[in-house]
Amino acid sequence: MADTLEEVDRRTHLHPFTSISEHAGRGPLVMREGRGVRLKDVRGREYVDAMAGLWCVNVGYGREEIVEAIAAQARRLAYYHSFFSMTVEPAVQLAERLLRMSPWPMSRVFFGLSGSDANDTQFKLVWLYQHLRGKPAKRKIISRHRGYHGVTVASSSATGLPVVHARMGLPLPGFLHVRAPHAYRESEPGVREDEFVATLARELDETIRREGPDTVGAFIAEPVMGAGGVLVPPKTYFSAVQEVLRRHDVLFIADEVICGFGRLGRTFGSEVFGIEPDLVTLAKGLTSGYVPLSACLISGRIWSEIEKHAADIGVFGHGFTYSAHPLAAATAMANLDVMERDRLFERAQRVGAHLQKRLRDELEGKSIVGEIRGLGMIAAVELVADPRTRRPFEPARQAGVRVFRKLLEEGIIVRALGDSIALCPAYVIEPAEVDQVVGALGRVIDEIGADLQAGR
Ligand SMILES: Cc1ncc(COP(=O)(O)O)c(C=O)c1O
Repeated sequence: MADTLEEVDRRTHLHPFTSISEHAGRGPLVMREGRGVRLKDVRGREYVDAMAGLWCVNVGYGREEIVEAIAAQARRLAYYHSFFSMTVEPAVQLAERLLRMSPWPMSRVFFGLSGSDANDTQFKLVWLYQHLRGKPAKRKIISRHRGYHGVTVASSSATGLPVVHARMGLPLPGFLHVRAPHAYRESEPGVREDEFVATLARELDETIRREGPDTVGAFIAEPVMGAGGVLVPPKTYFSAVQEVLRRHDVLFIADEVICGFGRLGRTFGSEVFGIEPDLVTLAKGLTSGYVPLSACLISGRIWSEIEKHAADIGVFGHGFTYSAHPLAAATAMANLDVMERDRLFERAQRVGAHLQKRLRDELEGKSIVGEIRGLGMIAAVELVADPRTRRPFEPARQAGVRVFRKLLEEGIIVRALGDSIALCPAYVIEPAEVDQVVGALGRVIDEIGADLQAGR
């Protein structure tokens, strides 16, 4: 008899961010089709995907308009490149559209394929800019512990999660990490929010002074941190951070890979927090994941320096075979059309408010629920052994993974970020589906909580 798909996969495929030993035993879950927020696997089982894939399928699965746009572009011209002054029609249109959507004075767009490569591009742009203005040593990159910026060599160096560094000799020298604005874990009980913000700003200032302001090129941050646990900063955090950065002439890279395109209810997450970035990284929601694409928005300040030295520089020595890929650009155009036509950013704000309220109504006060946090259409529930003291579970007890697995059995897909359970659904999720997901999460937390507290 032929091997099953699962057996073939176990023999052949090295899966990203997957436990090697568990995969060898449990095998993959093979998805086959999707519509809206619903997925079906090859065995015919159905799921509500409360994670929009990997925080990206913002318009939902199976959008015919997008599929048609991809097919039409593939028939016309499936590939041409953007090296040597070449380009394709949808890439021209998309670059112009992204600059128009930006509330900040942005001057150019560079296209890549993933959030990771886009952040690498941003670091190179920082290094180029600082070099051109006569400060070639001003190249260190500061990010936050728990920040997620990707897994290429430079972007994983900026990522503040040990799992992407361990045994690989990372981060590279010149990448520094400061504390995350996560009061629940990083602040002492009784400390006011404004005091916590002042402490974090002071630490950033001290880090820059210690390293030498002439060696620090840029700071990179997600408006709301995603993979690090869905961490929503205090309202005044970014204004305090920006004040420090301005004082030391350090650039701000806004990593909008998750927050961009409506996730927090505004076009960009940075708008919610008053961030005024020099560089903006976009991916995921740009195409709702239908085809890989990322974009770097480059501010007038940086672009004018590059333009000034254009004759000197000659060829811009950076770019990918698939930069500005026509299928990806056509996908993004169709995806943004859908978002505009169906007013999905407004919907994200409205349904997001329902999600946030339902989570608090349903889960607050449960015996293993520590913090419930989130904004717009992204949220997390942190499970703890003792909510009163915030004592976490021993990692070996796998509280988060157990909740994830039990929900998966019930046909609901969430994500376990350690013991924080993340939700990040497509904007098209119905309020009744939100209720279904939150209701199931509450039941499963009760059930697994009882087991954990009984030592099982
Ligand atoms: C904020 C952020 N930046 C960058 C990335 C990396 O993107 P990619 O996985 O497309 O390389 C991610 C991926 O989850 C992300 O959440």
